[in-house]
Amino acid sequence: MRILAFESSCDENSAAVLQDGKLLSVCTRTQTVHKPYGGVVPELAGRSHLELIDGLANEALHEADIRLSDLDFIAATIGPGLIGSLLVGANYARGLAISLNKPFRGIHHLEAHLWSAELSHGNLPLPFLVLLASGGHTMLISVEGVRRYRVLGSTLDDALGEAYDKIGKLMGLSFPAGADVDRLASQGDGHRFTFPLAMQDDTFNFSFSGLKTSVVYKLRDLPPEIVRSSKNDILASFQEAAIESVIRKVRLAAQRTAPQVLVAAGGVAANSLLRKRIYDLAESMGIPCAFPALSHCGDNAAMIGYLAWKLNRCGIADSAWSHQARPRWPVETLTEGTQAQ
Ligand code: KG4
Ligand code: ZN
Repeated sequence: MRILAFESSCDENSAAVLQDGKLLSVCTRTQTVHKPYGGVVPELAGRSHLELIDGLANEALHEADIRLSDLDFIAATIGPGLIGSLLVGANYARGLAISLNKPFRGIHHLEAHLWSAELSHGNLPLPFLVLLASGGHTMLISVEGVRRYRVLGSTLDDALGEAYDKIGKLMGLSFPAGADVDRLASQGDGHRFTFPLAMQDDTFNFSFSGLKTSVVYKLRDLPPEIVRSSKNDILASFQEAAIESVIRKVRLAAQRTAPQVLVAAGGVAANSLLRKRIYDLAESMGIPCAFPALSHCGDNAAMIGYLAWKLNRCGIADSAWSHQARPRWPVETLTEGTQAQ
C-alpha cells in the first residue's frame, strides 16, 4: 500500500510517501515567517502552508520515485492544531484523494507522535510508556494497543517546548529556541544555579511556569555582566531543573505501569539531555527505551503516513468525523469505545 501523507497542524509543512509502512521520502519545511514575532502567527502559518503544500507533495513523490497514479491512499493531519493550517492540509489532501478516486483518512496529530518511534524501531512491545513533549503538549501516556491509550497526566500550564522557547527568548535566542538552548546548555554548567523542581507530588502532571518565573527573577537579580558571561550556565541550569522534574514523573509512571519500553516523542524528544536521562532511567529499571529518529521528533508527515498505514492494517475503520479539521481533540476520545467529540 502506497500512501501520500501531509502534516500542517502548526508551523511545519511536510509531505511523505510510504510503502507498506516503510518510509520512501519525507520533505519538511519549517516556516520562517514567524521569527520576527517570537511565536507562531496563525494567519501567516495558514497562508504559508498554502504556498508550500503543492511543491512539497511533488518533491516527496519525486524523491520516492512514485507517480500520483501509483498511490493507494491519502492521509493528512486533521487535528488538533491551528484551524487555518489544518484546513489547508486536510482540504488539499481530500481534494487530491477525490480527484484520484482514492480513500482519504484524517489523522490525530498526537496519536501519530505516539507511534512515531516505530518508524525506526518496528513494532514496539505493549504496553509502552510515552513521554510526549512538544511546543504545545507535555503528556505521559500508556499505550496499551492501537486506540487503547491511557492518559496518565499532562502539563497544568506551559508545555515543555514552550518553556524552552520562552527561556530562549529571554536569553535573546530566536524562535523556536529549543534546539539552540540544547546546544548552548551542553557547553554550560547545569549545577551553577539552582532552580526549583515543580510538582514533586505523586500525580503524573507537570508544571513549568514556576520554573520560568524563577529564571526571570534570577536574570533580574544578577548583575547584567554576570548574565552575559553566564548565558550557557543559566541555560544549562534551567535545563537541568526542567528535565529532572520530567524524569521524576517518567520514573513514577514507569514504576506504576510496568511498561515494556520507555519512549520519548515530540519535538523536545530531540533534546540531548532528555534522551540521555531517559536512556539512563530505562537502563536503571532494566527496560529498553526507544526514540524516533531526530528528523521524526518534530512535526513531520512520515509519522502521519505511518499511523494511517497502521490503522488500516489493524482494520480500524475510518469514520465520518475523520474528515473534519478539529482544532481541539483530546487524546482520551480516541480510545475504542469512547465517543469522538
Ligand atoms: O512537536 P513539535 O515540532 O511541534 C509541536 O507539535 O509543538 O515541537 C516543537 C517544539 C518547540 O517548542 C521547540 O523549541 C522544541 O520542540 N524543540 C526542542 C529541541 N528541538 C525542538 N526543545 C528542546 N531541545 C531540542 N533539541
Ligand atoms: Zn507535534
